[in-house]
Amino acid sequence: MSPDPIRLPETITVPRTDPIYNCHAYLTKVPIRAIQPFIETFTKPGEVVVDFFAGSGMTGLAALMLNRRARLSDISVLGKHIATGYLMDAATPGLRAEANQAMAAARKALGTLYMTKRGSDGTKVEMIRTIWSFTYLCPSCRNEMVFYEALNARGGVPQRCSSCGTPFARRSWLRGDDVPVRVIVQGENGRQVAQEVCETDRRRMREALRDGRLLKVPSLPIDEDREMFSRSGLGRSGMTETGKFFSPRNSIALVELWRAINNVQDEAIRQNLRFAFTAILPRASMRYQWSAKRPLNAQNQTYYVAPVYFEWNVFDLYGRKVNAVIRANEAIFGGWDLFSTEKLLDVSYEIASAEKLIHLDDCSAHYVFTDPPFGSNIFYSDMNLFQEAWLPETTDHSREAVIHTTGKRKNGSAERYEELLRNAFSEAFRVLKPGRYMSVVFGNSSGRIWGLVQRALRDAGFKASPVHVALLDKGQRSVKGLNSGSEGVVTVDLILTVQRPPKGVGTERAVTLANGDTDSLIRAAIDELADDRPCNASHVYARTLRKAIQKGLLLDDLHLGDVLIALRNAGYRVDRKTGRLFGDVAHSSGTQST
Ligand SMILES: C[S@@+](CC[C@H](N)C(=O)[O-])C[C@H]1O[C@@H](n2cnc3c(N)ncnc32)[C@H](O)[C@@H]1O
Repeated sequence: MSPDPIRLPETITVPRTDPIYNCHAYLTKVPIRAIQPFIETFTKPGEVVVDFFAGSGMTGLAALMLNRRARLSDISVLGKHIATGYLMDAATPGLRAEANQAMAAARKALGTLYMTKRGSDGTKVEMIRTIWSFTYLCPSCRNEMVFYEALNARGGVPQRCSSCGTPFARRSWLRGDDVPVRVIVQGENGRQVAQEVCETDRRRMREALRDGRLLKVPSLPIDEDREMFSRSGLGRSGMTETGKFFSPRNSIALVELWRAINNVQDEAIRQNLRFAFTAILPRASMRYQWSAKRPLNAQNQTYYVAPVYFEWNVFDLYGRKVNAVIRANEAIFGGWDLFSTEKLLDVSYEIASAEKLIHLDDCSAHYVFTDPPFGSNIFYSDMNLFQEAWLPETTDHSREAVIHTTGKRKNGSAERYEELLRNAFSEAFRVLKPGRYMSVVFGNSSGRIWGLVQRALRDAGFKASPVHVALLDKGQRSVKGLNSGSEGVVTVDLILTVQRPPKGVGTERAVTLANGDTDSLIRAAIDELADDRPCNASHVYARTLRKAIQKGLLLDDLHLGDVLIALRNAGYRVDRKTGRLFGDVAHSSGTQST
């Protein structure tokens, strides 16, 4: 197949807001609409698309919706569980009926643990959510400060002890027990109201603490040799097991709901319901953050618990998630003509390390679209434990492609990562038909990591100059930068498309980046800022990388930090809240900036 890659857009901007994307979180998913133009360009209907870092299976869904076959694999047990959930098309009436039955059975088994009294009229109602707060012990007056009560009028962090005025220092003050501070119920007029915590609530919480079903909550240790142990400060907070992140009441509700779901007979419905269950776990836990304006999602890339957090009614979350699954099913399968015999439903998912794709024959794939882990940014297997505690297996992370920055596994980690990527790309080369293409999504702020990817592609035998380099703008900060608020964050990834040379054609070698090239490349990318689209440093970095790649230069010395310095020297400033560039700057070419 000889595609016309020029027809692919230079920049792909896809907001992460579609019903499929949002149905079940998985770290760094690539939206289906970003993948589809590539599959359409490089394959024909019926051909085989491979993704060996498949995660939640978005490549498989994109292929399925375009009537291509897909062969997915990953080491991630959670990824396979999510992809399987997406691929199960349970009929809506049956799914809704079974979900309602499961929730009714679990509610009955939970008994009165969620029940409270509505303050305004004394009616018994189910709590919708309870707000909990950290407490801190003032080192001067020894009084307990309830963080929530000490927030300022705009919800800002307390500055001083509310009793004696000693300046508050979150890191050094000792923590006391967390306390419930407000309960949200449905008011008499149908609108939600926040009320004080009453004695009934406290009694229910004590009952839940003594409930024997707490022993049945599946829980996995997040121990010291896990990178996220230190990155999330778990030793300090004592949150060293996944089960500790759930309140006693929510633990029991989850245990009962999981039991009811697993009793469902119909396979497709059961898988959809299990998928909806693992999708709500972060929000059903203390990781669901309260904020003065609106709830803030659990941070999927860390085990962070905010000083004010929710205990959210599991059934409220689950009912809404089942509706989201129905909407996602409709988006994936709704357009299908059920009577068409042409429609393929041929997507498989293996648990396998990308280094050894034994499930794939030589020259069996028409196209590879894949999104490897980006160096040391995210520890998938550590974060997966949270959901995998409820699944029969956990991810074997011994060959995870990631660069450790702490602990025993740090030494030699970058070398292992490079070797793993090289082996993975060699496998891609082996399974691809000669003359066919592989697109790799990648993002990193370090030229060293980019250089490593570039070498791994070249060593595997792919042609050194990509046939296409697209900017993938996911429309918001990357997970790595969510709470940094700074400019040094990669929000734009590249999608490099390389070719396995046709039979009889050799590969070229990339030349070394010559001194001085870095500056001129960055300057050229800055000069392109004349268009008036909002832009951050990451856009400029991605453009610089693209220019270097297109010239066949190695990327090792091209860091996001260099771009930031060059932007500052050129008179640009960065809005620290949005990361956007601003400044009234004259370009070297004479044009005006944004
Ligand atoms: C960037 S994510 C892919 C996300 C995916 N594009 C999606 O849409 O969900 C990278 C994936 O690589 C996986 N991974 C890490 N090491 C691996 C290995 N040695 N073999 C296969 N997969 C691996 C991780 O489990 C993770 O799911």
